[in-house]
Order: sequence, then C-alpha cells, then structure tokens
Amino acid sequence: MIVGILGVGHLAASMLAGFLRSGLDPAAIVLSPRGKAAALCARHGFRLATDNRDLVERSDVVIVAVRPAHAPDAVAGLPWRKDQVVVSVCAGVPLSRFAVAPARAVRAMPFTASEICASPTIYFPDIEQAQAVLDRLGPSIALASETDFEVATVNAAVYGWVQDLIRKTAEWSSTQGLDPATGRRLTALTFVAAGRLIEEKDQPMDQMLEELVTPGGITERGLQVLSARGVPAAWEEACTAVLDKLMGPD
Ligand SMILES: NC(=O)c1ccc[n+]([C@@H]2O[C@H](COP(=O)([O-])OP(=O)(O)OC[C@H]3O[C@@H](n4cnc5c(N)ncnc54)[C@H](OP(=O)(O)O)[C@@H]3O)[C@@H](O)[C@H]2O)c1
Repeated sequence: MIVGILGVGHLAASMLAGFLRSGLDPAAIVLSPRGKAAALCARHGFRLATDNRDLVERSDVVIVAVRPAHAPDAVAGLPWRKDQVVVSVCAGVPLSRFAVAPARAVRAMPFTASEICASPTIYFPDIEQAQAVLDRLGPSIALASETDFEVATVNAAVYGWVQDLIRKTAEWSSTQGLDPATGRRLTALTFVAAGRLIEEKDQPMDQMLEELVTPGGITERGLQVLSARGVPAAWEEACTAVLDKLMGPD
C-alpha cells in the first residue's frame, strides 16, 4: 500500500516519524512538494511527488494534512480513483467539503503523539484501509457518526490542555525546589498513570474516585480549592467552546 501525504507541515512530520517508527518502508510514502517535504525526503528516503496530481496518481491512501481553510481547494480537481481512500485530519472540515469522488473520504484526528506511536486516533467512517494506516500511530478508535466524530475531536484540544497542566505542575514543583527534570518526569508519568488506570479498568469512574478521595485527605483538599475556583465548570465551558468552534461557520 502506498501512502501519500498532501500537506507536509507540523502534524504530517509527527505522523511520518510514527510511520517510520512503526516500520513502514519510507519508499512506500509519497509527499506533496511543499512545506517540510523536500527536507524529510532527503533525510529519510520518502518519495517526493512533482505536484498534487502526481501524488494522487501514485497513492492508495492519501492523508490530507493542510490547514482546514485550505482543505476543500487542495483536494478539488485531482484524479481520484474508486479504489482510493482519502483520510482528512483537518479539524472541523466536514466530509461534505471533500470533493474526492469516486474515492472514499474518512475523517481522522491524530495527535502529535503519533510521533511515538501513542496517538489515540478517532476516525469515521470505519474503512479498513484507513484503520490499517492509523493503527501504526497508536490505538485507532472508530466512531459511529460524523456528529460523534465532532464531539470526540474536542479531545484534540484537551490533549493540549493536559500538556499545559503538566507544564504548570512541573514548574510549580520546581519553584518549590524540586529538580526540574525530576518534576517534569514525575508529572508526565502521573498523567499517564491516571489515564492508563481508567482505560484498563472496567470499574465505574465514580467508584474509582470515591475510593481515591479519602475524606479529609490531600486529594479532597485540592479538589475543594479547584471547585471553589470554578475549575470543573470552566473546563466544561472550554469543551463546549471548542465544540462550538468545530461546528461553527468556516
Ligand atoms: N498540529 C496539530 O497538532 C494537529 C493535530 C490534529 C489535526 N491537525 C490538523 O492538521 C492540519 C495541518 O495542521 P499543521 O499544524 O500541520 O499545519 P501546518 O504546519 O501549517 O502544515 C500545513 C502544510 O500544508 C501545506 N499546504 C497548504 N496547501 C497545500 C496544497 N494545496 N498542496 C500541498 N501542500 C499544501 C503547507 O505548505 P506551505 O508551508 O508551503 O504553505 C504546510 O506545509 C490542520 O488541518 C489541522 O486541523 C493538526
């Protein structure tokens, strides 16, 4: 299977690092000739297309990773074939804006953790070739509808907020005298541990939290401060704001 990437910027570079790490042959990857493409081809041996038409002619699966506003024009008028799958990673651009018939279009939302093959990547609709490509970048998660996909895309923003929380916690511990490298590592692994335990256990989350938050203990004390400062409500408001932006006009 030849994988083409149309739009080789920041996210595409993370995905390409993940494809290499997953063992994909660089000769099986073709890049559109803009952005970071020439440098990445020279460094890793990916193939460089002469233009976007050439890219589409040479690829079985085409990942579209241009900025959302550029996506509809970037795919229009290219020689799409019936056997092709087009995977758009462009946030907030509905399938209806991709004029790629007779190829089939899929939406996906990888994170930059693709680079280390650790991106939980949502996609819709569930097409085998798309899953085969996305599974190389971490666990792929098929969704049942485009509406579900939009709601789940909010997690792409949450991913950044969590990194910001890790940074703030690590910086705070360093101001208290903890070695910065130790603080960074510990905080990052704390978030990984919290997520992994919830992901790997079937126990209801309410029950897990009830067992965790000892009355009068340190977790409860911090939650009281966060609640008094309106953090849970602000977090929900931020999620809603992102969804509104995703569903809003271009
Ligand atoms: N960044 C993330 O973490 C992330 C995560 C999930 C999804 N996404 C989605 O990924 C997409 C790309 O984001 P990004 O951060 O990677 O943007 P970016 O760094 O600006 O990369 C976009 C690339 O597309 C190229 N491009 C634009 N129009 C093109 C065309 N017609 N043909 C070929 N190449 C073209 C640009 O080339 P020039 O430099 O020559 O203009 C640029 O290199 C966005 O739609 C975003 O919603 C991003």
